Amino acid sequence: MGANLARNLASREGNTVAILNRSPQRTEALVAEHPEAGFVPAVDYAGFAAALRRPRTAIVMVQAGAATDATIDALVEVFEPGDIIVDGGNAYFPDTIRRERAVRATGINFVGAGISGGEEGALRGPSIMPGGSDEAWRTLGPILRSIAAVAEGEPCVTHVGHDGAGHFVKMVHNGIEYADMQLIAEAYDLIRRGTGRSPAEIADVFAEWNRGELESYLIEITAEVLRQTDAATGVPLVDVILDQAGAKGTGAWTVQTALALGVPVSGIAEATFARSLSSRPEQRAAAASLPGPEATPLAADEAAFIEDVRQALYASKIVAYSQGFDEIRAGAAEHGWSIDLGAIAKIWRAGCIIRAQFLNRIAEAYAGEPGLPLLMTAPYFAEALARGQEAWRRVVVRATESGIPAPAFASSLAYYDGLRAERLPAALIQGQRDFFGAHSYRRVDRPGAFHTQWSGDRSETAL
Ligand code: 6PG
Repeated sequence: MGANLARNLASREGNTVAILNRSPQRTEALVAEHPEAGFVPAVDYAGFAAALRRPRTAIVMVQAGAATDATIDALVEVFEPGDIIVDGGNAYFPDTIRRERAVRATGINFVGAGISGGEEGALRGPSIMPGGSDEAWRTLGPILRSIAAVAEGEPCVTHVGHDGAGHFVKMVHNGIEYADMQLIAEAYDLIRRGTGRSPAEIADVFAEWNRGELESYLIEITAEVLRQTDAATGVPLVDVILDQAGAKGTGAWTVQTALALGVPVSGIAEATFARSLSSRPEQRAAAASLPGPEATPLAADEAAFIEDVRQALYASKIVAYSQGFDEIRAGAAEHGWSIDLGAIAKIWRAGCIIRAQFLNRIAEAYAGEPGLPLLMTAPYFAEALARGQEAWRRVVVRATESGIPAPAFASSLAYYDGLRAERLPAALIQGQRDFFGAHSYRRVDRPGAFHTQWSGDRSETAL
């Protein structure tokens, strides 16, 4: 990804790019493979620093963790106050906050920038989420704008906020990516097991969906994956891929952070746990003999069922994005970042993995009401949920009756119903807490905290 980002940078007018790799052979090979880039090779940090114009800007693309710290330390040695070090990896945002503070103390700027789009995006234009200081952004802004993807004439980069804000937002982007992927996978599974259609036939369904409100990169590539045949066996490739999903950790970070912030990102959590569940072969083998419905009942009206699944997918997707934006809002409040949620939706419209038409609707929702407490309550999304909720319920019922796991569909629906509920059984939980731990409760009819003498005469005391 680093090489592609360097090639992207070098291809833009006015940019000259110096490159430094741990292995000098890799640098030589890159220079030889891409003479058009006009790369300036460096063999050590001093040479790299000497090759750059002031204020120097270095973009670090190494593994998150110790390798990033080592590279930053080495750059700090050779850089001067006013220079900029950008970490373009998937760093954990608390690390970015720590690094920014440490590097800033030397007078050098440190910018944690989330970069999304994979190898291809890095070369052709990624979506970029930089944090760091305003001073760094003044120099860096034009450079990043020159390489970012463009959506409706606007570059997909914005100064997200200070210190770790960029990596925080990239983390949540990945959490949403997990939810989006899981929801699509559940939709595929439901259609396959509910109608018996082949992967290639379901590819046609996704291709069709990609022409409507679900239009997105992930739906588009889903159709391509489902259409692929395995050259060795002639069967659909999806049937010979081991069904154990990997994860590098950003989904788990999103969920851990949400737990710490008290933000319910249940769809993202279910998506993350679904990957964990898939990757427990011993447990799956042990549980395989547990009873369930005999055979999946075929959908009586296949076309209607597929349309229900489409609507359930769209409704669950709205919930997942709403939860993700809620986490960004809460994270910004906690860390004192001023994050423009509409601007985030805009920079995700192109270049990144979750790019979709849908993000225009999110940008519009925040433009209409910048202080929107919850995305899914914005008029456009509230109407879409109202339209889709009956189909959504039918799909969750069908999945449950058929024994087809649809954790993200079901938990998104439960979240929707939980928020809608006039009264929640949380009142009972408060009673239980007061019973065993004298944790007290508040009443609907009077201010203050109360405790009932559960093991005494059951009278109530105002605290
Ligand atoms: C991106 C991707 C990218 C990568 C993740 C996925 O925005 O370009 O999100 O960051 O694909 O690392 O990680 P998992 O391996 O956890 O799915």
